[in-house]
Amino acid sequence: MKEWLLEILCCPKCKEEENPLGTTVGQRDGKDIVEGSLDCKHCKTRYPIKDGIALLTIPPRNPTAPPSKYEDQAVVASYLWSHYGDLAGENEATDAYKRWAELISPASGIGLDAGCAVGRNTFEMAGRMERAVGIDTSLAFIARARELMIRKSTSCLIKEEGMISRELKIQLPSGYNTHNVEFVVADAQALPFVSAAFGSVASLNMVDKLPLPLVHLQELDRVSSPEGAQLVISDPFSWSEEVTAPANWLGGTIEGRLKGRGHENLQALLEGRIKGLKGCWHVTATGHVWWKIRNHANHFELIRSCFVKAVR
Ligand SMILES: C[S@@+](CC[C@H](N)C(=O)[O-])C[C@H]1O[C@@H](n2cnc3c(N)ncnc32)[C@H](O)[C@@H]1O
Repeated sequence: MKEWLLEILCCPKCKEEENPLGTTVGQRDGKDIVEGSLDCKHCKTRYPIKDGIALLTIPPRNPTAPPSKYEDQAVVASYLWSHYGDLAGENEATDAYKRWAELISPASGIGLDAGCAVGRNTFEMAGRMERAVGIDTSLAFIARARELMIRKSTSCLIKEEGMISRELKIQLPSGYNTHNVEFVVADAQALPFVSAAFGSVASLNMVDKLPLPLVHLQELDRVSSPEGAQLVISDPFSWSEEVTAPANWLGGTIEGRLKGRGHENLQALLEGRIKGLKGCWHVTATGHVWWKIRNHANHFELIRSCFVKAVR
């Protein structure tokens, strides 16, 4: 974990106090902490740093917990194809990450990519601002994003059909910044960052993957600068009771405070027309991006991800 991240980290458990985290360093490589822990003096929680990856979920990530689908290597390969297929010259690759990146204006300050998966949008943000941080609960995704950050390359086996697969080699373009990027394991509903830490925040295709999507929006609101901030949220609003209780959906219901369409309710929440966020945003663009995930040579998921860009 790069040391510069310490400036904006706080305990995700007792973040009201905005406690800076102490560090116990076991092994270091220049300005990177490779092994050690981040320690909250207030609630005494220790967040481990293992193989350079800070594990900042609450409670600290349990290695014996059943893995989510986002830890599966086949899913990691699908996401690597989706994020970097265009850079690897893959036929039929999605251009969605270029489209989302075009929504993010060059800016001063630090960018946050919440639910970054294998990191493409985080690298895009790093090219437009001073620094960028990607967070995700999947250790497998964060490990792959960090491998790209360190080596600028990675490879994986992508499925062609049945037991037939082929190697996908990914090389980041030489113009990509990696020194100003970091990735940590963290929960988008309990961000381990001090308030107003970020000038730019992005959340792509994650709102409908959370048990508490409104809490995620409140967290994005809290960590964004009160003035001069930009925000991009994009989502297909594929609500599912397995992930989110209907009472917590931001749309897709026919009664209740957030009945109707999620894309519209998201804009109303940001603009303060529906109560829920502290800060008030000004929506500057809405629309959709076609996003593609490849499961095997003949099977793609095509997803219409509806975005909102807002500033304040
Ligand atoms: C549908 S994927 C989208 C990934 C990426 N933003 C993109 O658009 O390619 C959802 C992502 O959210 C992550 N995720 C799920 N729950 C999370 C949570 N509570 N906090 C942070 N990330 C989470 C998953 O690991 C996964 O990377």
